[in-house]
Amino acid sequence: MADLLLALDVKGKAEAVRVATACTGELDAIKIGYPLVLSTGLEIVKDLAKSEIPIIADFKVADIPNTNSLICEEVFGAGCAGIITHAFCGSDSLAACVDASHDHGGVCFVVCEMSHPGALDFLSGENAERMARMAKAAGADGIIAPATRPERTATLRTIIGSSMKIYSPGVGAQGAQPEDVKKYVDGIIVGRAIYEAADPKAAAHEFRVRAR
Ligand code: XMP
Repeated sequence: MADLLLALDVKGKAEAVRVATACTGELDAIKIGYPLVLSTGLEIVKDLAKSEIPIIADFKVADIPNTNSLICEEVFGAGCAGIITHAFCGSDSLAACVDASHDHGGVCFVVCEMSHPGALDFLSGENAERMARMAKAAGADGIIAPATRPERTATLRTIIGSSMKIYSPGVGAQGAQPEDVKKYVDGIIVGRAIYEAADPKAAAHEFRVRAR
């Protein structure tokens, strides 16, 4: 049984609020990222907060420790409940993100293996497993692992154990199905298959039911 997270990669406040409002009652969290925030500013978090579900900032943070901490300050100061960070900058950068998240009462998820084909160049295999171990050692709340490669997500689950969460993108437009990964993960992340649907609420409802 997995939660449903909407990847709200639309542009502009009006469209974001339209989709989020349409999906009321069907979502467990909303993930925002650069496409939306660069078009609206972080004020969009306050607009989306009216939906009363957690907002997770997918900024795939990847910088030196001090910059990572400053990014977290802004994200949580704006009202986000969680942030997604990269791990490949090293254990000190990752620790800064995790610690700053916790200092602000938020959660921190760590990208380990990505869902797209190009992930196989670097963000997969042994590198992904090392980053999962690093995420666990840093006290991260969870990792991001691909629905498009469920066997890899299962492997990463064995590394982090059951006390950390896994959120999994790749369902819908990238070809994975909720049934592929729901037994390994705590949440599926769905973007285009919901926000581009003629009826986003109906699409979200179907994913929510299938993820249960
Ligand atoms: P779609 O439209 O493909 O959107 O359903 C997927 C969303 O998830 C993000 N994404 C990822 N984020 N690791 C991540 O941290 C990944 O492997 C990954 N794959 C996709 C993507 O940016 C979009 O918001």
